[in-house]
Amino acid sequence: MKIILTGSTGYVGSEVLRQCLAHPSITSIISLSRRELDITHPKLRAILVKDFTHYPPEVLAEITGADACVYCLGTNVPVRPPELNRKINFDFAIETARTFAAFFTENQHKPPQGTFKFVYLSGALPEKDPNRRLWVLAENRKMRGELENALLQLGRENERRGGVEIYIARPGFVQPKGAFLQNWLVGKLSNAIMLDHLAACMLQVAMGEKRDSIIENDELVSIGKVVASESTLAANSHVT
Ligand SMILES: NC(=O)c1ccc[n+]([C@@H]2O[C@H](COP(=O)([O-])OP(=O)(O)OC[C@H]3O[C@@H](n4cnc5c(N)ncnc54)[C@H](OP(=O)(O)O)[C@@H]3O)[C@@H](O)[C@H]2O)c1
Repeated sequence: MKIILTGSTGYVGSEVLRQCLAHPSITSIISLSRRELDITHPKLRAILVKDFTHYPPEVLAEITGADACVYCLGTNVPVRPPELNRKINFDFAIETARTFAAFFTENQHKPPQGTFKFVYLSGALPEKDPNRRLWVLAENRKMRGELENALLQLGRENERRGGVEIYIARPGFVQPKGAFLQNWLVGKLSNAIMLDHLAACMLQVAMGEKRDSIIENDELVSIGKVVASESTLAANSHVT
């Protein structure tokens, strides 16, 4: 399989990249980032992208043959000024999804299994009602709600034509692997997930069967746990 990844230099995206490199069924990873990666690997091709609202033909040529995109680009806190925040956290995502949806529904670019999957890494508490009064992170939660609506609409349009499925992962608090206290906390907090489980789940969705578009934190946790333990078992059975 060939996977496109954005945000590969970030906290979540770098774990998705690590798992892609280790995954036996993933043979090619195209990373789209604004700066060089600090790793090289035979399966990895890193492409620098200047503007994630516009994909020139040479970049589209690189993504030809891809089966899915895991989109992890975004900021955890609002960037200033607000126009730049919207550009990074709204325009980049929707224009990437639109461009890929158009590209991968053309007959000559359709993936072999027939459907291209776009998995967007969202966050907890997106707000769909632009008029609702919010006290915490109002700007980004409303923008995320608007973006999710636009992505779901794009998914519905493409479902009718066939060829592209859009998925939205809504993790809560993402905890790094290995920290004992933090691992314990994840078990106590209802809206938290381990980083490796989140990455494993998004990859599973990108490579798996058709399913519901929105994946809430609880489901991310349960799928991610199963996939991550299967991968560990598979890795151990190779060692013995
Ligand atoms: N971390 C969490 O606990 C958490 C929880 C729920 C949801 N999320 C969401 O997941 C997404 C990623 O979070 P993260 O924690 O992985 O963030 P992160 O570590 O800050 O990584 C962000 C990624 O986006 C890229 N990026 C940011 N601004 C960019 C720009 N102007 N142009 C091109 N690339 C840009 C970064 O590239 P550079 O390295 O070049 O800056 C990096 O690869 C965000 O949307 C966040 O809201 C995160």
